[in-house]
Amino acid sequence: MSHITNPKPISASRVTLSQLMHPEHANLLGNVHGGWIMKMADEAGALACMRHAQRKVVTVAIDSMTFREPIKIGDLVILNAEVTYTGRTSMEAKVDVLAENPVTRERSHTNAAYLVYVALDDDGKPTEIPQLKAESAEEELKLIQAKERQERRLQEKKLREAQ
Ligand SMILES: CC(C)(COP(=O)(O)OP(=O)(O)OC[C@H]1O[C@@H](n2cnc3c(N)ncnc32)[C@H](O)[C@@H]1OP(=O)(O)O)[C@@H](O)C(=O)NCCC(=O)NCCS
Repeated sequence: MSHITNPKPISASRVTLSQLMHPEHANLLGNVHGGWIMKMADEAGALACMRHAQRKVVTVAIDSMTFREPIKIGDLVILNAEVTYTGRTSMEAKVDVLAENPVTRERSHTNAAYLVYVALDDDGKPTEIPQLKAESAEEELKLIQAKERQERRLQEKKLREAQ
């Protein structure tokens, strides 16, 4: 199938999600609940992977997330996602989370998240995906670093399973 044999550029998977933060997104301190950000990051990453694979995907792993600063109610949260690694059936997406004050347009990069998804066929089984191709030296480095992260995850999984 041509969509599997032809490698695709990172740019073809890029997607941006934006959402205004309302009081129902607040934690007890009145800032945005971290769980909302995680949910939106998962959605953005999944969309980037669906664009790449042209398949439905499920989340198989989420790396730890660190929030550098609080996001406030009334901020616009912007999530930029792209695929950074492809295996046979798995993909890593990087999601950058930005918070924008819609009045001042001041933006802060609150965190980056790495998530791994698996593409599924119509029977819900892992299925082969197109490979990624780098279009610059910078992207080449991005793919190498992503491959190292995935190797680390699989190594950690092996150690967990051996316990
Ligand atoms: C994702 C799922 C279909 C994988 O099934 P599986 O039988 O483990 O399949 P495999 O062992 O062949 O793994 C599939 C791919 O995932 C990768 N993978 C599996 N576990 C992983 C982990 N912890 N971290 C990173 N990648 C992982 C494998 O390396 C493989 O990649 P490759 O094909 O690119 O080499 C299955 O585990 C599942 O359905 N999980 C639940 C998904 C879900 O419901 N997510 C929402 C959470 S509520």
